[in-house]
Amino acid sequence: MDMKNKVSITVDRDFQIAAIDKRIYGSFLEHVGRAIYTGIYEPGHAAADADDFRLDVLDAVRGLNVPIVRYPGGNFVSGYNWKDGIGPREKRPKRLELAARCIETNEFGTDEFMKWSKKAGADTMMTVNLGTQGLDSARELVEYCNFPGGTQWSDLRKKNGAKDPYNIKVWCLGNEMDGPWQIGQKTAQEYASIAVQAGKAMKLVDPSIELVVCGSAMPSLPTYPEWEREVLEHSYEQADYICLHSYYGNQSGDTDNFLARNIAMAEYIRTVESICDYTKAKLRSRKTMMLSFDEWNVWYHSNEADRHIKHWAVAPAQSEEDYTMLDALVFGSCFITLLNHSDRVKMACVAQLVNVLAPIIALPGGPCYCHTTYYPWKHVSEFGRGTALRAAVNAPVYDCADFEKVPYVDAAVVLSEDESAITIFAVNKNLEEALPVTLKLNGFTGYSEAESITMHSPSADDGNTPEEPNLVVPARGNSVGFEDGLVHTILPRASWNVIRLRKK
Ligand code: AHR
Repeated sequence: MDMKNKVSITVDRDFQIAAIDKRIYGSFLEHVGRAIYTGIYEPGHAAADADDFRLDVLDAVRGLNVPIVRYPGGNFVSGYNWKDGIGPREKRPKRLELAARCIETNEFGTDEFMKWSKKAGADTMMTVNLGTQGLDSARELVEYCNFPGGTQWSDLRKKNGAKDPYNIKVWCLGNEMDGPWQIGQKTAQEYASIAVQAGKAMKLVDPSIELVVCGSAMPSLPTYPEWEREVLEHSYEQADYICLHSYYGNQSGDTDNFLARNIAMAEYIRTVESICDYTKAKLRSRKTMMLSFDEWNVWYHSNEADRHIKHWAVAPAQSEEDYTMLDALVFGSCFITLLNHSDRVKMACVAQLVNVLAPIIALPGGPCYCHTTYYPWKHVSEFGRGTALRAAVNAPVYDCADFEKVPYVDAAVVLSEDESAITIFAVNKNLEEALPVTLKLNGFTGYSEAESITMHSPSADDGNTPEEPNLVVPARGNSVGFEDGLVHTILPRASWNVIRLRKK
């Protein structure tokens, strides 16, 4: 362990990565586990509104200022018939849900979701079923959601209570279609062909929509990265984004390696970028393909419990993670990585939002509370809008199983839209020692007011629970000093930090 114990972060006004697309702070709500039922929707709950949406959960969601939410799956979408989830509730069929092997009541469907997202202040990223369904079902869903009226599906939407079209802009062409677990799994050839044809018909219904094609379900699959190359070669002109999915865990208990997972995320992004650019060159295209990292998170605590879920129940608890301070460090580092790749990553969804792999836990019939991961997300969403600056970070490093020279400190720097504030997000991955940090801000003058927020805990294993919902929460950070044009502060050991510099 190289512990020279000195960290410097340098930015220059002219070294900009990109204008950040706020949709990188997106999320995901799937019909899985208790995300929808007893998550955002719970008839009879004391906090439920007239639509049976839990207001305490909505408040917590609003606190994240989530710009876009992916729906309805995930693996769920590959067996889903959206027509089951519209119209009078008493007529909606109960179905076997084969992805999670439970019962889907269809009590909640497209119109309920669109109502909920409006209340949450979020746009929708709609996923279509290219597993058991295809072109017709996809184009009819676009018609149902986005066509003003005067046709079968748009008039049915009106009849179901939504006079105005939803105008959903972003559409995902299927989900994880090379995953052996996916219902209707396909080869790259098969997928590209259905995705291109469905996408073409969907854009004929509404030319203003944006399409996301499936990348490989995860970088560890043997189909990756050849899948990306083949799919892109066929769909390059039809698609607007290719998606990436990845979850990071600590099943082996190798904490040093776990803390370096955002390096794997960065490598994954760079590889997919290269395949996009190779394809662009091969096809002599003028278009640069952008990336949608529309499923990512930390996921491992619930793996064992998930092996024992009883089949054919309605909304059984699934993938309910108890996130710790350690997880929040990895989670925060991943957000830093997304910000540092914001020139190509234009959308990203934390999977998921409520109960399932979630920062918000809603207890059935009881209160809701927030896990550690809620807070880094809240901070980046609030302060991370504007321009991402290239941050040169010099920090002590360590070696671990998968990577050499892993910096103890990760950082991203954002200049706010109105340029009145510079925000530095930083993770100190050193579990033993606080690290003093010096910030050099070239080309910036007058940013002489400072505040810092930090989140850390006596043990990295600490997390919030129903009994102690506020055990790990952010607090005011160490003082920030100015000297010789430099900014100095101290990052506590094992901490997530936000340093805000403002003009007086
Ligand atoms: O987010 C949970 C699941 O993980 C999704 O359904 C699927 O797309 C992914 O494998």
